[in-house]
Amino acid sequence: MREPEASSLPRHIAIIMDGNGRWARRRLLPRQAGHRAGLSAARRVIESCVQHGIGALTLFAFSSENWQRPPPEVGSLMGLFMNALESEVAELHKNRVRIRFIGARAQFSTALQQGMHKAEQLTVDNTGLRLNVAAGYGGRWELLQAARQLASEVLAGRLRPEELDEPLLANALSLAGSPDPDLFIRTGGEQRISNFLLWQLAYTELYFTDTLWPDFDAVALQQALNWYTQRQRRFGRTPEQLESPGHA
Ligand code: FPP
Repeated sequence: MREPEASSLPRHIAIIMDGNGRWARRRLLPRQAGHRAGLSAARRVIESCVQHGIGALTLFAFSSENWQRPPPEVGSLMGLFMNALESEVAELHKNRVRIRFIGARAQFSTALQQGMHKAEQLTVDNTGLRLNVAAGYGGRWELLQAARQLASEVLAGRLRPEELDEPLLANALSLAGSPDPDLFIRTGGEQRISNFLLWQLAYTELYFTDTLWPDFDAVALQQALNWYTQRQRRFGRTPEQLESPGHA
């Protein structure tokens, strides 16, 4: 059981960056322009997290379901990811950011897979912000992967079913070693989790804003952080228990 901590800064923020398409449509621009503006917003938010000293940031860049978008849009997103890998990684490294990609990689081009691997290798020893980029990711996919892995451990006689507990399952998931997100942010007005971090969001504070992702900036992040500090995190306990820890 996690101890409730004094709510101050979240240690880990997870974000669904929604609304790029609508941002572009309102400006009579192609959706691709919205995604480009979305990348700039991601850059700004990463910088703000570095400045605030946040421990981890997980961004949902491309879901397993996003492969079903029209091929030209998928193509332009892949081009944008490739450019981002080429142009952003050096600066992130300079800022001591540790980059990790979570999701099913096999569907990405070899060049993209190599770019992801290189970025991870380059930054693996960095001790600043842990930046997790979810690409080809789905929460159910991740749980299924873990179930398969643990089932094969059982089959091989290395694990007994009754030994399986929450830490072991959490350890088989993509964000093993990171604390669960304290704060989840979804921009763009929808109020859903959309198959993001299904296990890890169990006790996370959920913040929804109508702001479209390309408009999300340091001020918008500060508003979310202010909202977070007002939350009382109870982890299943009563308010009285939190006010006086000796309370039965
Ligand atoms: C949702 O907007 C956004 C995405 C599908 C992800 C794209 C994200 C970026 C380009 C930011 C890049 C960030 C990194 C870290 C590489 P939408 O197209 O669903 O918008 P809509 O709901 O308004 O149509």
